[in-house]
Amino acid sequence: MRRIAVIPGDGIGPEVTAEALRTLRAVAPDLEFDVLDHVNADRYLATGTALSDDDFARVASCDGALLGAVGDPRVTSPDYARDVLLRLRFELDLYINHRPAQLLHDRLSPLRDQGRRPIDCTVVRENTEGPYVGVGGALRVGTPHETAIDTEVSTYRGVRRAMEFAFARATRSVCLVDKANAVPHNGTLWQRCFREAAALRPDLPTRHLYVDAAVMLLVQDPTAFDVIVANNAHGDVLSDLTAQLAGGPGTAASANLNPQTGYALCEPVHGSAPDLAGTGRANPLAAVLSAALLLDCAGRAEQAERIRTAVRTVVRDLRCTADIGGSLTTSGAGAAVRDALHGE
Ligand code: NAD
Ligand code: IPM
Ligand code: MN
Repeated sequence: MRRIAVIPGDGIGPEVTAEALRTLRAVAPDLEFDVLDHVNADRYLATGTALSDDDFARVASCDGALLGAVGDPRVTSPDYARDVLLRLRFELDLYINHRPAQLLHDRLSPLRDQGRRPIDCTVVRENTEGPYVGVGGALRVGTPHETAIDTEVSTYRGVRRAMEFAFARATRSVCLVDKANAVPHNGTLWQRCFREAAALRPDLPTRHLYVDAAVMLLVQDPTAFDVIVANNAHGDVLSDLTAQLAGGPGTAASANLNPQTGYALCEPVHGSAPDLAGTGRANPLAAVLSAALLLDCAGRAEQAERIRTAVRTVVRDLRCTADIGGSLTTSGAGAAVRDALHGE
């Protein structure tokens, strides 16, 4: 992997992506970047599309991509996310959304019981199906009888490949999270695929939880979890929860992956945080750790680990932004990571 497309996006996206890029340049000077700063809400509002077909081809022709965040309070239509982020996930067939959560420092855990703090788990989120497929419609809009239909779609192929990834990643256990007690057809297919994948890894303990129970147990004792596999919508919600348990939105990274093609689009779990945009208060570590995930996906584990070690050092020393106990600005926190890289 040498050429990386970069979509800074909206809100704090450009601010945190700048720090991730500087960090990447410091640890992997041979990488080349194709920066698409025009893919944002301004363009969407002006033209009705933010990611043109040419832009899509540019991103697809790179070996991987780094994205800041897309989303803007001026845009209320869900079509915008579909135009950029969901289009990239769907058309590049990035069927895994890999969202690891690892506590960076004991201080950052919201849990009182110290023994239950050191969360180190991964949400494996199916990323191309579920209710995100956009199949449905609306009837009698604007009347008292308005009816909205969004269909949840799971395919054997789609669920099986998510399971394969989940079981290959796991070292301690795999937990299937679903809502099979209320959403029967999807539930049956997910449980079949879970059983089939589990049969190939009899050494690995497995567990099944309904999503409502799963969120309670995750807060009660996150150390009980290793890999959590879930559909697109449940995985979205669960990964914000694990992000918060591991240090908050400013620290959570993710990789949208196709293990077959090797393409990876890495991005913070968080969004464009309009409340922080332009204030210099956004934490760049989620973006920096997303850059580390991109290096992992590029087979550059050593460079990725250098970044993670530097991040752990700055968090320990409180050389970070206010959301995780420091007092630095976005660019100050990015500079601290690069200092830590050099001081290792
Ligand atoms: P958000 O993640 O942007 O913000 C939620 C909370 O987390 C806010 O309080 C924010 O201040 C805080 N936060 C987020 N990033 C932070 C950081 N780096 N440092 C410190 N605090 C941080 O979620 P939202 O408010 O629901 O969404 C805002 C916009 O972003 C919406 O348009 C949404 O659709 C979009 N969004 C995009 C992505 C993406 O591009 N992958 C992900 C989630 C949301
Ligand atoms: C995420 C985001 C997106 C999602 C939105 C912006 C469509 O919340 O990447 O987690 O739900 O997948
Ligand atoms: Mn989300």
